[in-house]
Amino acid sequence: MQLSPVLADLAQYPFARLDDWKAEASARGIEVIDFGMGDPRERTPGFIRQALLDSVDEVSSYPRATGLPELRSAVGGWIDRRFGVSVDPDREIVPTLGSKEAIYSFAQIALGGKRLVAVPEPAYPVYERGALFAGGAIAEVPLREDHGWLPDLDAFDAWDEIALFWVCYPNNPTGAEAPLSFYEELAARAREHGFLICSDEAYSELWFDKPPASALQVEDRSNVVVFNTLSKRSSMTGYRSGFVCAPPEIADALRSFRPTVGTAPQEFVQRASVAAWSDDAHVEDVRAIYRRKRETLLPALEAAGLRLAGSTATFYLWLDVGGPSEVFARRLLEHGVVCAPGSFFGPAGEGYVRFALVPTQEQCERAAEIIRE
Ligand SMILES: Cc1ncc(COP(=O)(O)O)c(C=O)c1O
Repeated sequence: MQLSPVLADLAQYPFARLDDWKAEASARGIEVIDFGMGDPRERTPGFIRQALLDSVDEVSSYPRATGLPELRSAVGGWIDRRFGVSVDPDREIVPTLGSKEAIYSFAQIALGGKRLVAVPEPAYPVYERGALFAGGAIAEVPLREDHGWLPDLDAFDAWDEIALFWVCYPNNPTGAEAPLSFYEELAARAREHGFLICSDEAYSELWFDKPPASALQVEDRSNVVVFNTLSKRSSMTGYRSGFVCAPPEIADALRSFRPTVGTAPQEFVQRASVAAWSDDAHVEDVRAIYRRKRETLLPALEAAGLRLAGSTATFYLWLDVGGPSEVFARRLLEHGVVCAPGSFFGPAGEGYVRFALVPTQEQCERAAEIIRE
């Protein structure tokens, strides 16, 4: 039987290798503290869990792809409070089952005439995979430390061929942020050359100094599509709840496409999401938790000679290890501390490692002691 050639060509998901290393270390009796994957294990706030419980009805029906009107308007209210941007919730917001599926499937509706998709490197692998499964081709856009981990727009030369240009700020894996001027410049090129900016803003709420900008804040957002999620903001990875904010004709296309795929969030999840998007106080607590973990682990890593090489936001520490990243990660694993080699995110990640600050505070303290030793 012949399966998808795209599937056959995909390299093994790098994190599967990290799992193998961890299993092998555990089998040798090493107790591991896992800073590898970015899956928060913080408690979902009680009022959000209660909103979900209160919404489980006796009868359960298929959720509609358009989402509940109250969810669309809660998202619109949050965008207004957070970014000072007024959107039309009914025409521009589409609730999604977390943001990953929406990021993955976006190329299915957006690759018409042009089939080239610009994706950053290093990056979250889903932009590339979604484009390839939709029959698209990839134009890699390198991110480099000496350019603030932002794409060098003057060095890119396929503007007329691309349908989509993916960006992700605050960035996974580097923790870098993008100023509004960067989005403005990219939006001007998008209008001139006729492509869409796809802005993955999954980490927009995990900041330390001042709230990061959004691509939604550009003056003319007719070529801007933003993906966001409650996963990190409200510690709700398991709920699967996010949204796409897009110009009305793109949102219409999503509403036509998505019922076929069946990717509308369950209504009880949507009702819990209304509670989450309507409250900002709990997000202060989430930020305080990550700030404390950062202040626990970072000094130990710096004392050990590692250099912070980004990470002004997100719960990631991206560090220059001054040598091969896999060798470093495997050596640290021998002491029970798991981090992700930068090479897992693309060749430009070589020489760096990423720590996801997801273990508990106590585990972060223990890891800091181990690193100091
Ligand atoms: C950069 C980035 N975008 C999107 C996601 C998807 O998050 P979710 O599907 O939970 O909304 C993640 C998850 O780790 C991520 O790191």
